[in-house]
Amino acid sequence: MRLQAGESGGLWRWAKKKMSKGGRAGDGPTAREIGPLSPRGGEFVSSFGTDKDRACSGSSRCPLGHGSVGVDPYPGYVHGRCPSICKYGCQPKKRLGAGETPRQTLIREAVEYQELYHREAGSTPKVKEARIAQVLAEIQTKGTYDLTFDELQHGARVAWRNAPKCSNRGHWSELVLLDYRAAATNGEMFKCCLEYLETAIRTRATVPYIAAFRPARPGSLLGPRIWNGQLHKFCAYMTDEGRVMGDPAELAFTEFLETGLGWKAPKKRGEFDIQPLVLQMDPREPPEVFEIPPSYVEVVNIQHPENEGFQALGLKWVAIPFVSDIELSVGGITFTAAPFNGWFADTEIVRDLADEGRYNKLPAIAEAFGLDTKTNGSMWRDGAMYELCRAVFHSFGEAKVGLIDHHTLLQNFYEWYHTELATRGYSPGNWKWIISPMSSSTSPCYLGLNKMIEYTLKPAYTRAPGWVKYCGWLNKPLRGDRQVVNLFANWALIRVLGRMKGKVNALRPSLAILYASVSGNTRRYAHRMKQMLKDFMTVELVNMADFDPKRQGLESALAWVFMTSTYGCGALPQAAKPLLSWLSEKASQEKMHEKPFTVIGFGDTSYPRFCAAADSVMALVMQRGGRNIVPLAKADAISGEEDTFLTWVKQVVQWYMSNTKVSHTAIKELLPYAMDDDVIVLKAPHVPFRVVKWVQTADNAPEPVPRANMTAGRWKRHRAKVVDTTEVSGHGDTARSTNLIKLDISQFEFLKYSAGDYVQIFPRSKRSPELLEFANNLGIDDLDGVFDIECLDGSPPKFPVPIKFVTALTEHLDVHAKITAEVLQTLSCLSGLGDKSGGEDCLLLQELATDPEMAAKWLAESHARWIDLFECFPSLVGNLPIAACFHLLPIMRPRAYSVASSHRFLEGREVHCLVQRLHYTLPNARERSGLCSNYVGDTAIGDTVAFNLNNAPHFRLPINPEAPILMVGAGTGVAPFRGFIQERAYLKRYGPLGPAILIHGCRSRGELVFEQELNDGLDSGVLTDFYVAYSREFGLPKAHVQDIILANQGRLRVYLQNHAANVYLCGSVKLSIAVTEALQQVMDKPAFARMVEDGRYHEDVFSVDGNI
Ligand SMILES: Cc1cc2nc3c(=O)[nH]c(=O)nc-3n(C[C@H](O)[C@H](O)[C@H](O)COP(=O)(O)OP(=O)(O)OC[C@H]3O[C@@H](n4cnc5c(N)ncnc54)[C@H](O)[C@@H]3O)c2cc1C
Ligand SMILES: Cc1cc2nc3c(=O)[nH]c(=O)nc-3n(C[C@H](O)[C@H](O)[C@H](O)COP(=O)(O)O)c2cc1C
Repeated sequence: MRLQAGESGGLWRWAKKKMSKGGRAGDGPTAREIGPLSPRGGEFVSSFGTDKDRACSGSSRCPLGHGSVGVDPYPGYVHGRCPSICKYGCQPKKRLGAGETPRQTLIREAVEYQELYHREAGSTPKVKEARIAQVLAEIQTKGTYDLTFDELQHGARVAWRNAPKCSNRGHWSELVLLDYRAAATNGEMFKCCLEYLETAIRTRATVPYIAAFRPARPGSLLGPRIWNGQLHKFCAYMTDEGRVMGDPAELAFTEFLETGLGWKAPKKRGEFDIQPLVLQMDPREPPEVFEIPPSYVEVVNIQHPENEGFQALGLKWVAIPFVSDIELSVGGITFTAAPFNGWFADTEIVRDLADEGRYNKLPAIAEAFGLDTKTNGSMWRDGAMYELCRAVFHSFGEAKVGLIDHHTLLQNFYEWYHTELATRGYSPGNWKWIISPMSSSTSPCYLGLNKMIEYTLKPAYTRAPGWVKYCGWLNKPLRGDRQVVNLFANWALIRVLGRMKGKVNALRPSLAILYASVSGNTRRYAHRMKQMLKDFMTVELVNMADFDPKRQGLESALAWVFMTSTYGCGALPQAAKPLLSWLSEKASQEKMHEKPFTVIGFGDTSYPRFCAAADSVMALVMQRGGRNIVPLAKADAISGEEDTFLTWVKQVVQWYMSNTKVSHTAIKELLPYAMDDDVIVLKAPHVPFRVVKWVQTADNAPEPVPRANMTAGRWKRHRAKVVDTTEVSGHGDTARSTNLIKLDISQFEFLKYSAGDYVQIFPRSKRSPELLEFANNLGIDDLDGVFDIECLDGSPPKFPVPIKFVTALTEHLDVHAKITAEVLQTLSCLSGLGDKSGGEDCLLLQELATDPEMAAKWLAESHARWIDLFECFPSLVGNLPIAACFHLLPIMRPRAYSVASSHRFLEGREVHCLVQRLHYTLPNARERSGLCSNYVGDTAIGDTVAFNLNNAPHFRLPINPEAPILMVGAGTGVAPFRGFIQERAYLKRYGPLGPAILIHGCRSRGELVFEQELNDGLDSGVLTDFYVAYSREFGLPKAHVQDIILANQGRLRVYLQNHAANVYLCGSVKLSIAVTEALQQVMDKPAFARMVEDGRYHEDVFSVDGNI
């Protein structure tokens, strides 16, 4: 790049002129604007240095425009006595920023970077000066400034160009920025890391990326941190024999993960276990540990092209180097968390696997090749290293992952380096790092570059302080920051206290509750059980996801209580995996032999495999020799769930009492009901708040502002405008009418979703005459009246207050939810109806409250909802306190809808979903409507909808876009596939796609949705084939998706036999059963089982009957 005369040092000239004349100069900022930045007059100028300074610091006035030159942080590497880095004699300066305040350093580096950026961007001087003035003004008001996307991306590129140790930096201008500066929490940071990993893995290490999180405040070290050295790193463990298993370089960090952060290593520890990520958005808070899902990790098995014995070594390495312990400094702003990746050079992996301080595999490799390791003269090390290098190169080639060999790397670097010197006039370098560890002297770099000078030019990458320092920082105040709480000391204390508590609790026989839940129902019951029992027995509550048989509370427990829901098609929740794999090991036999246990399942009888997961747990534990103490219980979400649970708890408690010395009376006191003689006497629950009414003074008064720090309900929600809503099938407000609704999410910069995820929509009940009546019966005469809640025991309200009654009853509490047996029990004692001379309904309520069987029957037949409460029990009118009602009413539950769009295809502007209206008729001929589907169906463009986005990591497109996919969906089950197709259209811009077949089931042509889009997909090649199965189309034979699968089995088999093929199914349980059977026929059972085991069969089953 050629320099334009007069282009450099523009601001310098202006500043000097201003200082001498004190007036206005050209287009630069005014004296008033710059004043506070240079309170002592000379401060601003001195930051640019005098002519003398320039000679030794290489200030921005050097015509080459490289900015200030420092030797820090590696002064020892500057070679030569008086090294000059460019022909103008600029020399690196020790302690470059010494004597500057942090703000002066910021201004100097900001201006120098703007000079460089605009020179390289080819901006006009006017544009440059304007931007500099803007940056200075921002620093003046905020103490910092925001780099634009282009500035940051270019800065990250230049930092790579300036990286003295990197021999691959000829690619500097290809670096792509993933801008994650908006991420604000550890969870968001993790989500971004996953997105980054996915993006990089998808390109198979052919595109270099950098992911930048928010920077630290200038002058402070406290920015977000990634504690791992790389995003993909292997663990190391010390074995009982004192050997290190894994990567020895990671021994200390792995130990810290386990002991300091409580991370649990995999049960079967291996040499190549991927570390979890340790992320810390706020350095004042302890970091959080996040397990990386396997699909976000790409590992290459290292195999030798010829030697079979080599395979037995089981060597592998991560496919892409994601460096995360380097800081990026651009224009005075430091990005403390900015992981980046390029691709590996073969010799990097060779050293990782061969170095004595690392995996030290050379002796084993030499043995595999029969090399004589007894004498140095046999050159076995060279031989083994060469074979390892060949194996690495071969394996990456086979895996189609980018990697460069060391010869090409150095040839490229040699050429690039000389071009840089000739055109740019400078280029820092560190010979020791550049030169290859193998066959170094074969490269001209060996002798030709041994006089390279290493120095630091900003923008720069510098090594981050590292996790040991970060631990220390949690205890100490840092430069420019307030005292940080001594968190680690607190943690230690908590651990000690925990141990002491463990000892005390050990005196009482304990019960371990192990639960697995997906949507929280089972978890809620598990917590409830603990709450009921904890005061008279020690209860260890364990999420099966965290199952560790060595956990003290588990080992010592008198009995194990398993609680699980059922999903998919009779499967256990994902969370149960650790327990299941332990139970399938032989070792569990010893522990489980004669272990007292019981199981309760939470399920739904409308699914054909009711509580099948509970059956599986029961069978497995029995197989392992466990002793069942209470019969298996199955709680049905449709009916009698509460009673099944309570009856089962009662049996568990009875067993406990007869097997321990815990007093009977103590238990009676603590349970919410008396259990003797099978007569249940209920106790009134505690209502933790009072409702305080306000008088609404004006009509149509706005919603009051909730008090600060008020939680907005149990679920996080955002609000988006509807930008489009189209009825894609059906007519108006009738059953099965289906709407495609589009929400504008462009203002939520951080809200990203993947095709296959869910949108959760929070419905709103209508302000109907029914609701008005319900409110009146509660004693609320003005729905627009405002009320507040006065907490009696410090527990937070369920929704933000103060609030209007109408808002609470339509948005936060679900008056359309079904009444449960638990509610009947509570109502009966709350209202004290037994004491009143009420009518028949009083007696009915009493009976229902005390007779679980009768209650279950009544609930199943009446389908009673909260809004029907006073119709069912008129005696409650005027007798049910508002506070009690609000306490018992369930929180409004959001409904899930598959996203029917791709975030990337739509450039983050919208999220779409396909919603079918639910209307049904009860056996008593009453008409009912689904709340959310009709709420969504009734929305109009411009309305605001409360929503959230939920991850569905089990339902994602394969990372490799070339893998064949088969998508099978019925009714609205086609929704996620529209998202997949859009995503593929996006991916098609970057490379070839594998085959994609869609089989769509619907009743008739009138219900076929997205026909045009699907045909377009066929034309553009994002869809290979598209079949429709009509189950009720006039004149056509009845066909279901499984019939299409079987009719095309020859063609499908070709795709499905591919080891990378993925199958996706979305729809009902019935569909899942039929399709699974058809696939087993097409692929044969073992091949299908392998597909399921590999995680290539994906199901999203969300209805019982299906929508066909
Ligand atoms: C993961 C997931 C993804 C989903 N994706 C989609 C999607 O893409 N598109 C879509 O339209 N839906 C989808 N759903 C379904 C959706 O979440 C809602 O369940 C559906 O819209 C009905 O909600 P609603 O509020 O209208 O009905 P609700 O008011 O919640 O009423 C539903 C309840 O009514 C009762 N009921 C229903 N039919 C009858 C009957 N015949 N007799 C007696 N009682 C009955 C049942 O108790 C049922 O639970 C998905 C569900 C899940 C779990
Ligand atoms: C997608 C889906 C699939 C389900 N599959 C089954 C099933 O096969 N058998 C069953 O008994 N219940 C099934 N259920 C019902 C749940 O197990 C039940 O609602 C349970 O209470 C959920 O508990 P959890 O929130 O703890 O996961 C299913 C529910 C959903 C949403």
